[in-house]
Formats: sequence, C-alpha cells, structure tokens
Amino acid sequence: MAKPKRRYVCAACGSETHRWQGQCPDCGEWNSLTEEAPQTVFSQKHDLSSGGRAIRFEPLDAPGEMPVRRTTGLPEFDRALGGGLVPGSAILMGGEPGIGKSTLLLQATAKIAMSGGAAVYISGEEAAGQVRLRAERLGLAKAPIQLAAATSVRDILTTLGQMEPPALLIIDSIQTMHSDQIEGAPGTVSQVRGCAFELIRYAKENGVALVLVGHVTKDGNIAGPRVLEHMVDVVMSFEGERSHQYRILRSLKNRFGPVDEIGVFAMEGQGLTEVGNPSLLFLSGRENPVAGSAVFPAMEGTRPVLVEIQALIVRLASGATPRRAVVGWDNGRMAMLLAVLEARCGLSFSSAEVYLNVAGGYRLADPAADLAVAAALISALADKPLPADAVWYGEVSLAGEIRPVAHSSIRLRESAKLGFAQAFGPGDAPERTDGARYKGLSVLPNLVDRIMGGT
Ligand code: TYD
Ligand code: MG
Repeated sequence: MAKPKRRYVCAACGSETHRWQGQCPDCGEWNSLTEEAPQTVFSQKHDLSSGGRAIRFEPLDAPGEMPVRRTTGLPEFDRALGGGLVPGSAILMGGEPGIGKSTLLLQATAKIAMSGGAAVYISGEEAAGQVRLRAERLGLAKAPIQLAAATSVRDILTTLGQMEPPALLIIDSIQTMHSDQIEGAPGTVSQVRGCAFELIRYAKENGVALVLVGHVTKDGNIAGPRVLEHMVDVVMSFEGERSHQYRILRSLKNRFGPVDEIGVFAMEGQGLTEVGNPSLLFLSGRENPVAGSAVFPAMEGTRPVLVEIQALIVRLASGATPRRAVVGWDNGRMAMLLAVLEARCGLSFSSAEVYLNVAGGYRLADPAADLAVAAALISALADKPLPADAVWYGEVSLAGEIRPVAHSSIRLRESAKLGFAQAFGPGDAPERTDGARYKGLSVLPNLVDRIMGGT
C-alpha cells in the first residue's frame, strides 16, 4: 500500500489537491481549501476481478416493483416534487437561512404524521423545545411527529434501526451532522459527504423518503461538495426575497420527474400557506393596473424568474436638465433604449425625467429585458397601464428590431404557471407554446402601436 498523501479539499466544489493553495484550481474560490484526513491509497495492482459476490440481473418489467408516490399533504410541495415523495429517494433542499426550509418541512412532516404515516424530524440546529415552539405557532403541536435534536449519525441510524422505518425522514441540516468514522468537524466536505452517504443508504434500503436540508453559500449554491448534488435523487431550492411574502420551491434536478415544476407558497404569521393561483400573490399590489409596470420573465442561469419592471416619467417645465435614474438594470442600456425609442418610434423623452426600477431588489443581466423595459417606458409615457396578464421579453437592436432570445419555451411555461395568459416576444412563436398565449412583435414601432393603440 502506498503512503497516504496530504489531502486538501475545496469546501466550495469538493475537488482535491495534495498541496495547499490560496485559490482552488478547479472552481477558483479563494481560501476554500482545508486539510482533511488522508485516504488510503491502494496500489495499482489491486485486482477487483475476483473474490466478489455475483450480482443479480433484473428484468425491466418486474411487476409490482414500481414505488407508489406518497403525497406530502402540501399540493405545491408535491407539484415541485413531480407528484409526491418517492419512497427510498433522497432529496436535498437548499435555501438561504431564514427563508423557511425548516417551517416547510415541519409542516410537511406534520401533514404526513396526521394522515397516519410515521414521520421523523431530526434537528441538528435547534433544540427540540425550539422546534416545539414553532410547531405550536403553526398550530401543529398535536401532530404525532417523532421529533429529536441530534447530530450524531451513529445515534440517528442506531435509533432508526430499532424501529419501523418511517415514511419520511427529515435531517435539518446535513451540515450539522457528524460521523465518528470520519475525521473533521461537522460541515467539512468529508463529513457532509460521509454522513449523507450513510443516511442515503439507510433511506434506500428501507424505502424511506429522506430530505436533507442544505445550507447555501452567498452565491446561491448549496454549500459543501457538488458531489452531494450527485448523490441525491432530487435537488430542490427554496427561494424568495425575505422582505417579500412569496416563496418559490423549485426542483433543479429530479430523477423521478420534470425539473421545471415549481411550488409557490406565501410566508404568513401561521407559517407557509400554499398559493394555488400564484398570480394572485405575485400580482398583489398590481390589482389596479398602473401605467409604467411591465412583467418580465427573466432567466437566472437556467432558472426562470418573473420580475416586475417599473418606469416613471415626470414631465418637466422647460429649462431644467432631466434626471435619469436606474435601479437594477444597466444605465447605458436604458440610455440606448431611450435613444432607439426616440429615433425609431418618434417618441420624445427629452424634456422628461425617467426613472426605472426592477422590483424586489433584482439586478437584471438578461438582455431579453429590453422589450419589457421598453413596454414599461412607453406605458409610462402614454400613461396607459399594460394588460395585467401580459409578460414581455426580447432583445431590442439599435435599428429597432426585436431580436430572438434564448429559452422562450421556459419563459412561457413559467409565465403561464404564474398566471400570465399572454406573452409578447420576438417574431414567430417558438416551437413549444404550451404556456402563455404568444404574440410576436418584429419591430419596436409594433410595440408602440400595441400600447398606444390600447390593445
Ligand atoms: P425557517 O423555517 O426557520 O427558515 P430556514 O429553516 O430556511 O432557515 O424560517 C424562519 C423565518 O420564517 C423567520 O424569519 C420567521 C418566519 N416565519 C414566519 O413568518 N411565520 C411563521 O409562522 C414561522 C414559523 C416563521
Ligand atoms: Mg432552519
């Protein structure tokens, strides 16, 4: 056996090096390498071609083997899961601190427990008393949940091994779990990976649906090794602005269902309530349509997010220099769009102050925002509200053409899901329009006619 080498593991991406470096050579993160216990290195002559047990091959159509999904009792949660919990599956749920992961999972656990299933909630972050207090506040104190505060995976698995396997097992969070078989503090890459491995093995062997809560880093990725995402069957992210009420549960990976399904919740005094018709919530405060507001189906990487763009135009008495202010979008890009609207559509903003704001504190980088910004500006200028059920997206060229953008069908589906019935976008309808009703616009003057003409 060769001598074990020193081993440094990146906390962000999980890659290993044998030399300490200030920056991870794989993902580029700074100060993320920490030394971890060496691994046994086998010599290359190690032979795996004999001495093992024979494996059994299975037919694909084995009868009666299909797992039956179990509903969580929260239809929005089930929807995001692609139809409910699959027994023996592992789900990783990420989300910013305080967004409501523990609340959501406690509610789901209680629903399952109250419908007769055994449900275990292990908290490594809060004392049992704290969880009980939360349950009381949620009106769930009577639910027969099996609740424990624990962080030792050995204790947890020993205890679970002595009882009937539950239908649902929540581990809140995987970063607080600890295995005495592995060196290092809870939260290190080897601990997270090792604990997850053991818990997932238990879940698979016993047909238990397992949910691992995972912390996210400041850039929104689930902290710890990327391998955690490979180990589980489903990766979900719970998102929202903490200052706003709505929360979106999104599946980013799903071995048993589609990945573009979302569940929508509202955080209220009594916990999370489900929003069956998300547009009601999203459009709250937009019931009386206001001039200058346009909804844009943005893409955040591969994820669609609907945001509201607000424009305000204040006519000035002649003489003063008009102000232009932009929050959440590119200044230069707005100047360009105003110039195109002036040059190609004959609109005049020269004696008016123009303010643009992306609601919810979003910062838009998606070039497809052009059309929505233009719609908001024209609507503000004309003092005519846009249709409340419409979204707008597309890139605008200097010539005033509306250019195609990527991910049309994802934008349309997300819009329809959030209750928007019509979408204005570039040129021809995309191949898949199983979402909002699509209306193509080819040049910017079309947009002006649409809005000024009042359709
Ligand atoms: P929590 O579930 O603890 O978040 P996470 O587990 O993702 O860190 O949610 C905590 C937040 O939710 C907290 O800021 C208070 C708020 N909250 C409510 O608004 N209403 C409620 O009924 C509960 C239980 C929490
Ligand atoms: Mg929590």
